[in-house]
Amino acid sequence: MAKIIDGKKIAKELNEKTSDEVKKLLVKDNIVPGLVVIIVGDDEASYRYVRNKHRTAQKLGINSIVDSQPATISENELIDLINKYNNDDQINGILVQDPLPSGIDEKKITKAIDPKKDVDGFHPLNVGKLFLDDSTNYPVACTPKGIITMLDYYNIDIKGKNAVVIGRSAIVGKPMGALLLNRGASTTIIHRYTKDIYEYTRNADIVVSATGQVHLLGQDAFKKGAVIIDVGQNRDENGHLVGDVDFEDASNQASYITPVPGGVGPMTIATLMQQTVELTKWSKENGE
Ligand code: GUN
Repeated sequence: MAKIIDGKKIAKELNEKTSDEVKKLLVKDNIVPGLVVIIVGDDEASYRYVRNKHRTAQKLGINSIVDSQPATISENELIDLINKYNNDDQINGILVQDPLPSGIDEKKITKAIDPKKDVDGFHPLNVGKLFLDDSTNYPVACTPKGIITMLDYYNIDIKGKNAVVIGRSAIVGKPMGALLLNRGASTTIIHRYTKDIYEYTRNADIVVSATGQVHLLGQDAFKKGAVIIDVGQNRDENGHLVGDVDFEDASNQASYITPVPGGVGPMTIATLMQQTVELTKWSKENGE
């Protein structure tokens, strides 16, 4: 029977570490890490995510600012606002919640954030460092980074393994592929145009699924002993939160498996908090 990867527990422990780091920064250097989340428009789901981030940050002692802007804000006004925070010494992490209203180019907005304050790790400079496996410190997309933390928590080997990532998004699939590759896995990213996804998943030691398709993957999709990481956050026909993987069924094949909820989900916010503190320390080390 598969071992369940307990994201809630790992996130709780990570948050405790982050809280300790925040306390140390205050006592030793009189620094309080600052995180600003800019939210544009009134998308209900986005507000829910942002509220969660804000609550967690406050609990850990991070100075958390939520800057709500109307959907009518122009691209230039939003860039001016980002620049204000780029130049604010009290702010160490800047996150612009996606999605943005249709008139605003998300890629342009991502590029406007100072790469040293890019707590999402979405800036092309940081993405480039990730793909080059740069030896300096830089932020990485929080969900994939959190998944590596989970694998490491259970001492799951990555080097030399066959890893398959399903989904090629800039937020999860691509950075996940790069992280696994950097850790020495033979990594394949498959996606909606892949002809036969089973051809890949059935040979994989580690599968990370980020498709957004309810219960797409049952036990016949995996080889015996596979490590299954489910990034899916889907609603089934009854409105319940479910992943991409049929958890009960796939558990028969897996050595380790993440549940939904309680798996990858809690790790994303905990990693965002961890990374806010890391950005604060890195800027201090660089005398900024
Ligand atoms: N919207 C949904 N997930 C994310 C995320 O991780 N970062 C940002 N900026 N927006 C999001």
